[in-house]
Amino acid sequence: MKKIAFLTSGGDSPGMNAVIRAIVKSCLYHEIIPFGIYDGYQGMIEERGKVMTSMDVNNIIQLGGTILGTARSKDFLEPYYRGKAIAFLKKENVDGLIVVGGDGTFAGASVLNEEMNIPVMGIPGTIDNDIYGTDFTIGFDTALNTVISAVDKIRDTASSHHRIFFVEVMGRDAGFIALNSAIASGADDVLIPEEKTNLQELLRHIKDTYKDQRSVIVLVAEGDDEGHAFDILNKLKPLLPEYDLRHSVLGHIQRGGSPSAQDRILATKMGVLAVEKLISGESNSMIGIQNGRYISSKFSSTVKQHAKPDLINLNLISLLRSN
Ligand code: F6P
Repeated sequence: MKKIAFLTSGGDSPGMNAVIRAIVKSCLYHEIIPFGIYDGYQGMIEERGKVMTSMDVNNIIQLGGTILGTARSKDFLEPYYRGKAIAFLKKENVDGLIVVGGDGTFAGASVLNEEMNIPVMGIPGTIDNDIYGTDFTIGFDTALNTVISAVDKIRDTASSHHRIFFVEVMGRDAGFIALNSAIASGADDVLIPEEKTNLQELLRHIKDTYKDQRSVIVLVAEGDDEGHAFDILNKLKPLLPEYDLRHSVLGHIQRGGSPSAQDRILATKMGVLAVEKLISGESNSMIGIQNGRYISSKFSSTVKQHAKPDLINLNLISLLRSN
């Protein structure tokens, strides 16, 4: 293993720079050339990359985003463009690849392994926390803290004005952000894609809660089966004529910000382990953390399914709803 390429792909997440830093430092430690590729697979197709030094990664562990840039490359699905990407890796004499992203990113790495027999390792980088094979993805903890800080602020004004707030969070079609930030922020209810929403039950619970505290906070995962926060507000508004309803869509602030300690540590350990697994001859696997232990699991077991909040977490929803 003389030269390892690496890239960040898909939606960015806080902690990606900590991974980049760990990969570069680990490569240099093992006297391997670290080769960063810009803007995910699109940069690979367009032959945009550079040998990185410790100078490139000093003072980036605290930065959100990714200094390499990221993209969702449709071109990469085309054999013609993938051929250009493969030619680039060969021209650069790359003999190992680490990709940071979600299951789409890992699927792309698997294809490269098949088509050019390059050893590849994946690192789970997404705020959604929906990747099977790891308890935590890089960026999830920071996103939770961002949401909690926002909900605490919304609660101030909801209490002052005796309002009912529907707060929408990201997570694509997973409810990890919504469920865990609802628990941590003390939200009064939470709607997640993994549990069919019952609007009549929600209505009843809102009224009961309002009786006690004269304001209500409901977290809504963007992928909920009843729609976005604004859709749910509009469905309930006619049934709550005497109440003051508002909604707030947190959006992309959940994707930025300085990574938390947990995400920096997770990212650093995963980056180092990915390099070490490549050196030891492993391939087509994702680094994950399960029950506190850092492990690697084959892509074949991670890309076919999404992680779901477990039953204990789902039972916590009823606790949230208890008046
Ligand atoms: O996958 C991360 C994520 O933030 C999702 O939670 C969200 O639905 C999506 O990316 C937004 O994608 P984009 O940044 O392309 O709007």
